[in-house]
This record gives sequence, C-alpha cells and structure tokens, in this order.
Amino acid sequence: MLSLSFAALALFVAVKADSWGPAYSLGPTSSAIIEASTTFTPGTPPTDAEDSLFLWIGISNSTSGLIQAGVDQLADNNAYCGASSDQWCAMASYFGVVDGATTQLNGDMVPVDGDQAIGIHYKLADDNLTWNQTVTLNGTVISTLQSYDGPLLNGGFGTGTECQSECTGSTSVQTYTDTTIVLQSADADFSSTLSKGTGVVASDMVTTDGGKTWTIASITIPAMV
Ligand SMILES: *[C@@H]1O[C@H](CO)[C@@H](O)[C@H](O)[C@H]1NC(C)=O
Ligand SMILES: *[C@@H]1O[C@H](CO)[C@@H](O)[C@H](O)[C@H]1NC(C)=O
Ligand SMILES: *[C@@H]1O[C@H](CO)[C@@H](O)[C@H](O)[C@H]1NC(C)=O
Ligand SMILES: *[C@@H]1O[C@H](CO)[C@@H](O)[C@H](O)[C@H]1NC(C)=O
Repeated sequence: MLSLSFAALALFVAVKADSWGPAYSLGPTSSAIIEASTTFTPGTPPTDAEDSLFLWIGISNSTSGLIQAGVDQLADNNAYCGASSDQWCAMASYFGVVDGATTQLNGDMVPVDGDQAIGIHYKLADDNLTWNQTVTLNGTVISTLQSYDGPLLNGGFGTGTECQSECTGSTSVQTYTDTTIVLQSADADFSSTLSKGTGVVASDMVTTDGGKTWTIASITIPAMV
C-alpha cells in the first residue's frame, strides 16, 4: 500500500483520478472516530496479476496517519506473502509518520481466497493514543499492528480501491458487511457526510444512540473493469 492512499482519504475524495476505483466515504465528523469494524470479502483477484492493486478500509483525519487494513495484489503474490496466483495477501497496515519518517507499516501478511470473509477491527486503547488493528480469518487472528494517532478528531472513514503503477483495475465486486463506526461523542449529522462513488451500493446508516455508534449492514463496491 502506498502513499497516495493517505492523500485520498485525508481529503475525503470519493473518486480521485483514474487509478482509483469508486469509494464509500464518510467524514469529517464533528466528533472523533475511536473504533471501527467490518467484515470484508474482497472478491476474486484479477487473473492477470496487477502490480499493484490495494483494497482497504481506512480511517484517518487530515493530519493523522492512515489505518488501512486490507488485501494487496502485486505481480508476484507468492513472493510477497506465499499466496497462490488466485489469492490475495491480507494484512493490518498503517501509513504515517513513525519516528519522524513517513512510513508504510504492515502486520503479518497472510494468503486469503477472494471469497473468504476477513474480519477487521480498529480500536483506540484506553490510553487515548494507541490504535490496535486486528485482522481475523474465520475467527483466528492473522495480523495485528499498533499505531499512535489518538482519537481521530474530525476524522473520516472510507473504502480504498487503489490501482498503482502497472495496474488496470479491480475485476470483482467487494463487499463490506456489518460495518460499525464508533465516535467519541454523538454526531447526529455524521450520515450527511456520506459520499458514494458511481456504482457503490450501501444500506442506510443506522444509529440507535443518537449518533455515537453507526452501523451499515452492507456496502458493495463494484469492479473497476
Ligand atoms: C491493544 O493491544 C495490546 C497488545 O496486544 C493489548 O495489550 C491491549 O489490551 C489492546 N487494547 C485494546 C483496546 O484492544
Ligand atoms: C480518554 O478520553 C476519554 C474521553 O475524552 C476520557 O474520559 C478519559 O479520561 C481519557 N483517558 C486518558 C487516559 O486520558
Ligand atoms: C472455518 O472454521 C470452521 C470451524 O473451525 C471450519 O469448519 C471451516 O473449514 C473454516 N473455514 C475456512 C475457510 O478456513
Ligand atoms: C487529528 O487527530 C489528532 C489526535 O487526536 C489531533 O491531535 C489532530 O489535531 C487531529 N487533526 C485534525 C485536523 O483535526
């Protein structure tokens, strides 16, 4: 995953240039994002391996790093994570400033099939600084990562379909089910910040506590090609 992803989410742009697929984006909230979770099914990877294609779900604000667990396809995913040619590499991931340098950090990288449901959970720890990313497959933790941005004040949430270098596009539908976003305090207008790219289909955002906790039963991202 590369630096452009950070710029895209930070600016809350739904569709940025022609190397980005359509996105589902929320933000900025008037509060802060403190937790998010979803179940991600990436769909079959392109038959002719892209170099590179990154599918992720991100949270950030305009000055923080980007928490962005998801799946990657490079020209040789076998060399990258031991995947076969019809699998993705899944991982926890973060793009941001670490020890003064702008860095991409990845947790363990694990091969996954396109029809596997990947659990993704981001949670701010009680110290109000540490973010834990936990990626699970079939209930087993496969990848974790920690980063240190604190509550994401005026933050946003969004999907990324990021096509870099020698990439012509994603070829399968992606689904995110049972997505939950938790804010530090209620923001009843958070749903009005929603932006959906062409062909993105999603169920309504639901809150039962006045806008602190939001759920989205289903988000479907179309193939690019
Ligand atoms: C974050 O991860 C650390 C290390 O695994 C753990 O000690 C801590 O309880 C976790 N915090 C949350 C909020 O999940
Ligand atoms: C973390 O933030 C919450 C909400 O603002 C606050 O109640 C709590 O005291 C903070 N904890 C620490 C360790 O600063
Ligand atoms: C998921 O776990 C169940 C129960 O342990 C097992 O039967 C099933 O084969 C697993 N599926 C995958 C895709 O690993
Ligand atoms: C992003 O969140 C961090 C951590 O709470 C905060 O220090 C920073 O001011 C926020 N940035 C913006 C633009 O709100």
